[in-house]
Amino acid sequence: MLKNRVNASAIGFLQTAARDAADRRDMAHDASNMTPLSSLFSNGLKGRLQVPGDKSISHRSLIFGALAKGETVISGLLESEDVINTAKAMAAFGANIHKDDDGNWHVTGLGTGALLEPTDVLDFGNSGTGARLVMGLAGAHAFATTFIGDASLSSRPMARVLNPLREMGVEVLSRSKDRLPLTIKGADPATPITYRVPMASAQVKSCILLAGLNMAGTTTLIEPIKTRDHTEKMLRGFGAELGEEINEAGETILTLQGLQELSAQTVTVPADPSSAAFPVVAALITPGSDLIVENVLLNETRTGLFTTLVEMGADLVIENERESGGERIGDIHVRHSALKGVTVPADRAPSMIDEYPILSVAASFAVGETRMLGLEELRVKESDRLAAVAAGLKANQVPHEEGEDYLMVTGGSNQIGGGTVSTHLDHRIAMSFLVMGLASPKAVTVDDAAVINTSFPGFVDLLTGLGGRFEA
Ligand code: S3P
Repeated sequence: MLKNRVNASAIGFLQTAARDAADRRDMAHDASNMTPLSSLFSNGLKGRLQVPGDKSISHRSLIFGALAKGETVISGLLESEDVINTAKAMAAFGANIHKDDDGNWHVTGLGTGALLEPTDVLDFGNSGTGARLVMGLAGAHAFATTFIGDASLSSRPMARVLNPLREMGVEVLSRSKDRLPLTIKGADPATPITYRVPMASAQVKSCILLAGLNMAGTTTLIEPIKTRDHTEKMLRGFGAELGEEINEAGETILTLQGLQELSAQTVTVPADPSSAAFPVVAALITPGSDLIVENVLLNETRTGLFTTLVEMGADLVIENERESGGERIGDIHVRHSALKGVTVPADRAPSMIDEYPILSVAASFAVGETRMLGLEELRVKESDRLAAVAAGLKANQVPHEEGEDYLMVTGGSNQIGGGTVSTHLDHRIAMSFLVMGLASPKAVTVDDAAVINTSFPGFVDLLTGLGGRFEA
């Protein structure tokens, strides 16, 4: 019996171990082990490129593979730190995971509701998606699971997933204020819930659906604002039935019967639009550029940045549009363009939530004012992204105004650059400001380029190969 195997003193021990690990990591991220990098004005980026696989789909393909009976084969998996930590977590729950000589990943799953108790703490590094989705799995299994992460992840709010899990009967022991490190003691028996997601968050939605999938009974989820739908698509792709309707208020209602059996699948992960965003904006702002980014996921819950860039006057064309694995994909052909400032409405935020740092860089080179509204969720990303972007703009002479939930950038000056940007363990801050330097008269430096490995290993080499100039 797995039930109640972990008593209070064992949880205390796990917590102390987790806290020590996080403290060590906190202390380790100081100037002595950061990797500063500068980017320099470049004479146009040219060529065809592939960016790595989609991060959201990569996490989920490992998770669904571990819950399905049989062997799931994944090609194009994003092999970044975030995703590898999810792979390790699923292995710790008993899934068999390996990579073959052709680069495909094989996951042999255990079935829904059948994960095994991990024998060690699970380290999610920098990954909010990994941690929050797996908390849903852990909550539905009657054993204790301890979650740790880096200094960034340990400062991010987890109450948004822990509160609905508590309603299902889950117990939580956390360091403080529902932050990592924390231990989840799965509900026994777990009670499925009806839950209205209070913020626009695919992670919260996915956590609850994954918990519901692994417990008996019907889970109902009400999503007032549509967010990325990869969990829903994958549930169906792995053979589960998921009810979906829109109510009179325009909210999406999802109903999921727990303990449905999933069957193993072949998954092809398309290129990540959130990673494609960096070379796309680099090409738009760097004179002489002409790039084609291949096989990019064009799911409409993810393409808000491309819509916005076209409104700004970008010469951005989707070519070779097609369907692959139930998703729309295409090649993005982009050339240097004269951009103008626009207002980005708040209701577009969910479809471009990770793209505001790089949009702010595009806005820095656009004539006039770009107003970005509805940005409250940026405060709780890998860093306080609104503050981190504003500080980076300030360091590089870009006029802007930071509000509690908005950002206005006045672009088009010929004085941009010359600053050093604090990345705060945030990969997208690092990549965004390195892109800024490629088109700026003065170099832009980021304090730690190593954080890019969270989502985009090979970023600097890829851009260098296209004509980008960097200096360590
Ligand atoms: C993600 C959801 C988004 C996004 C994150 C990935 C996902 O977070 O910012 O990078 O894969 O579900 P929120 O759910 O917090 O909006």
